[in-house]
Amino acid sequence: MKDFSSASGKTILFGEHAVVYGEPAIAIPLPQIRTTARLYDNHQEFRIISNKINLNKSYKELDLSSGIYRLLTFLKDYFSFHILPADTLEINSNIPIAAGLGSGAALSIAIIREFSRYYEKPISVEEINRIAFEIEKIYHGNPSGIDNTTISWEQPIIFSKSKGVTKLSSDLQALDFLVIDSGIYSKTIDVVSDVRSNIDKNMPFIKKIGIISNKSVQALISCNKNEIGELMNENQFLLGKIGVSCKELDEMIDFGRGLGALGAKLTGAGRGGNFLLLAKDHQHAIMLKSKYETQGLRVIL
Ligand code: PMV
Repeated sequence: MKDFSSASGKTILFGEHAVVYGEPAIAIPLPQIRTTARLYDNHQEFRIISNKINLNKSYKELDLSSGIYRLLTFLKDYFSFHILPADTLEINSNIPIAAGLGSGAALSIAIIREFSRYYEKPISVEEINRIAFEIEKIYHGNPSGIDNTTISWEQPIIFSKSKGVTKLSSDLQALDFLVIDSGIYSKTIDVVSDVRSNIDKNMPFIKKIGIISNKSVQALISCNKNEIGELMNENQFLLGKIGVSCKELDEMIDFGRGLGALGAKLTGAGRGGNFLLLAKDHQHAIMLKSKYETQGLRVIL
């Protein structure tokens, strides 16, 4: 029996930003990168420890407006504890923070799953997703819900605000995606708010992104690599039009296209973070990976 819980990262294949305005988006979990949460008894005051973000605080010392404080307070009530029990919550993660891979949602979901495991109180996926979405609102302001939904279900999904989640049955193993960290960090809340402040100008591009997401579903189901690649490139062009790419990302993306990538686009909020490439096949992916690593970039997948 595992004595901890975890949650994966995620990447958006198509439709980021447009999903905030009701368009569909396609996202997949990244099970290779994870946040783990472990509760254990140290017979002292409740403490939260995370070496990654240099956190070692008691519940009382947490910033009252932080997502983690709000989540723990919520879970305390949810599990009907008067005070948090005398345990340690230890958090570890290899998901880059503020890089478009869902680190915030993974943190919430790993903690919710761990409370459920430790106190032997099962919570449904829908309920985990609902709680994580409330916490996402603190991190993101006005989130679409795609991050928490992808990570809660840990399956490839088609997501829209009105229709919710539909599972996507695509043989993703047959598709050689690379996820590469630009090393530039940006805050989702800022990028989303910039898109909104120019919404009249951006809306036609957002609608076109929605059309691309819809088209991508069939291409992904049939594993039509050339079409997926073309749609990724079109999606990236439109993301540039709404101002969420940046010079450095454009250069890194062009570098991959120059090496024969079938498609390339940013993933998540943009202005940095991670970007995706679709390689022709496995050998090609290995070549692309080594070329980017030679440039000093971290290839996540
Ligand atoms: O958390 P990120 O950086 O992966 O961004 C989430 C995707 C956005 O569409 C930009 C925002 C949202 O809430 O859907």
